[in-house]
Amino acid sequence: MRNPSLTTLEENYLFEEIAARARSYPKEELLNLGIGDTTLPLQSSIVHAFEKAAHELGDPTAYSGYESSFGRTGLREAIAKTIYKGTVDPDDIFVSDGSKCDIARLQQLFSSDCSVAIQDPSYPAYIGASKISGKDKIHFMPCTPENNFSPAPVDADLIYLCSPNNPTGHVMSHEELARFVAFASQKQSILIFDSAYSAFIQDPTLPRSIYEIEGSKQVAIETGSFSKTFGFTGVRLGWLVIPKELTFADGHSVRKDWITIASTCFNGASNLAQAGGVAALLEATPAAVRHYMQQASLLKKSIPLPVYGGENAPYLWVDLQGRSSWAVFDELLQRDKIITTPGVGFGPSGEGFLRLSAFAKPEHIRKAMEMNALY
Ligand code: MLT
Repeated sequence: MRNPSLTTLEENYLFEEIAARARSYPKEELLNLGIGDTTLPLQSSIVHAFEKAAHELGDPTAYSGYESSFGRTGLREAIAKTIYKGTVDPDDIFVSDGSKCDIARLQQLFSSDCSVAIQDPSYPAYIGASKISGKDKIHFMPCTPENNFSPAPVDADLIYLCSPNNPTGHVMSHEELARFVAFASQKQSILIFDSAYSAFIQDPTLPRSIYEIEGSKQVAIETGSFSKTFGFTGVRLGWLVIPKELTFADGHSVRKDWITIASTCFNGASNLAQAGGVAALLEATPAAVRHYMQQASLLKKSIPLPVYGGENAPYLWVDLQGRSSWAVFDELLQRDKIITTPGVGFGPSGEGFLRLSAFAKPEHIRKAMEMNALY
């Protein structure tokens, strides 16, 4: 029998729908400011690490097969040291094949009876994966210019937060996050904090991890990603942090259950990807992040409409002043061959907005700016 939850999803996932609409145009004519896919090549230190790891796989004296389902020790330690400055135990870090897969897989930790609160607008995988796993009590937390894209907590068993936010670009302050941590601790909710864009935060006073907030290890899981920071969108590498301190309402360890799920359903991230991940953390420079943020800044200055984001996040959230986001998407695609992302695809509060990605190729950004398409 078919999973009945599938009937509650849109036929096409947002970025599939966009790709389908763009398919009728010659690819080489399109300017792609749509999906947040990286365009800079990998740094040479990462490429060398892949090459070395590939050679080892072909060497009978160095070959290795399966690794730990939770990630190799050196990578877990490098994440703890570089990303969390030693504030997170490497044993609480679980390496994976990417954040999107973790967002879907971690649903298995929770009963389908759980209610879920989601920022509206937000990355569509949160709601899709929740529904596919049978969770149909979904509550939206509207994020609009009126509340500075910072929602009030809504009572739910699971609360998804993404900061810097995809798509609005809003970064939650220490105070805003502390409010969610206090709320979760009072209501016995679990926060799922998506930090995929944390490396893009330019303002050093803003928090890059939920674990900068006191008491958060008792209430929060964090997802992290190599995709956007290091150009691993195709390589696939991410991680989850599930602190030992985090328990279900009955006192059972969430981390222990995750160990059961990960070892049952997952055989670990590719050993090549993990070798590249260690090099990325220990040897790569932040040049790619700087490049994408410069593009965000240029693009933002060129748009004659109210634009949010783009200062601590690689996305621009453009206020279309009352126009429908799919209508503007279609117009830009048909008239100017520019691919964007319609705000409503991220949730009802995204209607009337358009998201532009600063991960686009430089020539695509330049041509799109020259066209003044959004005038
Ligand atoms: C996006 O463009 O919103 C996403 O980053 C794409 C993804 O990571 O799945």
